Amino acid sequence: MKTYRIAVIAGDGIGKEVIPAGIDVLTLAGAQGGFSCEFTQFGWGCDYYLQHGRMMEPDGVDRLLTFDAIYLGAIGDPRVADHISARELILPLRQRLRQWVNLRPMRLLPGISSPLAGRTAADIDMLCVRENSEGEYCGMGGRLHAGTPYEAATQTGLFTRHGIERIARYAFQRAASRPRRLLASATKSNALQHAMVLWDEVVARVAAEFPQVEFRKYHVDALCARMVTHPQTLDVIVASNLFGDILTDIGSAISGSLGVAPGGNINPDRDMPSMFEPIHGSAPDIMGKGIANPIAAIWAGAMMLDHLGEKAAHDAILRAIEQVIGDERVKTPDLGGRATTAEMTKAVTQALAARVA
Ligand code: NAI
Ligand code: MG
Repeated sequence: MKTYRIAVIAGDGIGKEVIPAGIDVLTLAGAQGGFSCEFTQFGWGCDYYLQHGRMMEPDGVDRLLTFDAIYLGAIGDPRVADHISARELILPLRQRLRQWVNLRPMRLLPGISSPLAGRTAADIDMLCVRENSEGEYCGMGGRLHAGTPYEAATQTGLFTRHGIERIARYAFQRAASRPRRLLASATKSNALQHAMVLWDEVVARVAAEFPQVEFRKYHVDALCARMVTHPQTLDVIVASNLFGDILTDIGSAISGSLGVAPGGNINPDRDMPSMFEPIHGSAPDIMGKGIANPIAAIWAGAMMLDHLGEKAAHDAILRAIEQVIGDERVKTPDLGGRATTAEMTKAVTQALAARVA
C-alpha cells in the first residue's frame, strides 16, 4: 500500500483544533482509496517560541525535507508579535522549500450565503494563483536610527523576470484547464512604474503562449472592486505576493467565511515538499471553544492529496464537503449555526463513508 509521509505543524489557537479534524478525514479517505498517510507531529509555533525563544528548531527546515508534504494549521498568538511568528516560520518555509505558488480556490459553496446580495454558487468560483517566493514579501529592507525622530524604514519589493514568468505560466496552465479559460492579472503599473511594468510585460509575453485563454489585466484596486461587483466575470487570477494576499481575503469573505477557505503552498518542481493550510489564522477570539469550522483545514487536506496524485480521494472529500454544506443541517457558528468542530467533522466523515458504502 502506498504510504505518504506527512509532517504536521498544527501550530497555534484553532490550528490545534482543525488539524485533527483534517487528519480524521484524510485517514478515512486513505482507507477508502487504498493508501495511507503517516503523520509526524512537530510542536512548533508560538508556544514553542515562548519556551525556547524561536519559532522552530534550528534545523527545522532540513527536517521537513524528507516528507512528502506538510500539513499546517495556523500560526499566531497575541503574546507574540505577528511579524515574528509569520516571518520566522511560515514565510521561511515558503521561501526555503521553494513553494513559489500559493494556490487559493475561492468558491461559494451551495448552502452558504454570500454577504453579496443575490449571489449564488454559480457566480463565485475563482482560483487565485499568488506568487509566493519574492515580490513585496521578500523581506529585504531595514530600519535605521531606531527610536529617534530620524527613524527610517525601507521595505523593498523584489520582482524577477524568472519569478514572474514561472508564476504566470503556472496560472495560464491552470486557466487553460478550467471550463471558462479566463485569466485576470492583478497589476498596479500606473503607480509602480518599475516592478509592475516588468510584471505586465512578462505576463503579456507568456499570454502569447496560451491563445486559448482569454487574458485581461486589471489594476489591483479595480480588481478588488470587480470581485465584489462582478465576481461572475472572474475565473483564475494571477497576482503578486501582497496583492494575492489581499485579494484572497476578499475572495474568502464573499465566499461566506474564512472558515471554509483552503490554500496550498506549492513547489511545482517537486524537489521539496509542498505545504497545505487553511488560509485563516489562529482565531484567538474563538480558540478553545471547540467551534472553529474545520472545513478549510479538511479542504486543504484534500488539496494535499490531489498534489500527491490522489485525485479521486480529493474529489471524494470535496463531494462530502459539498454535501454537508449543501444539506445545511450541520453549521458551525461562522456559517450561522451552532454545530461544534467535532459535529462538523463527523458530518463530513459520515458523508465520505456513505459515498462508498
Ligand atoms: P483569523 O483568520 O485568525 O481570524 C479572523 C476572524 O475569522 C476571527 O473572528 C475568527 O474567529 C474567524 N475565523 C477564522 N477562522 C475560522 C474558522 N475556521 N472557523 C470560524 N471562524 C473563523 O485572523 P486574525 O484574527 O487577523 O489573526 C489571528 C492570528 O492569526 C494573528 O496572530 C495572525 O498573525 C495569525 N494569522 C496566521 C495565519 C497563518 O497561520 N497562515 C494567517 C492569518 C493570520
Ligand atoms: Mg492573508
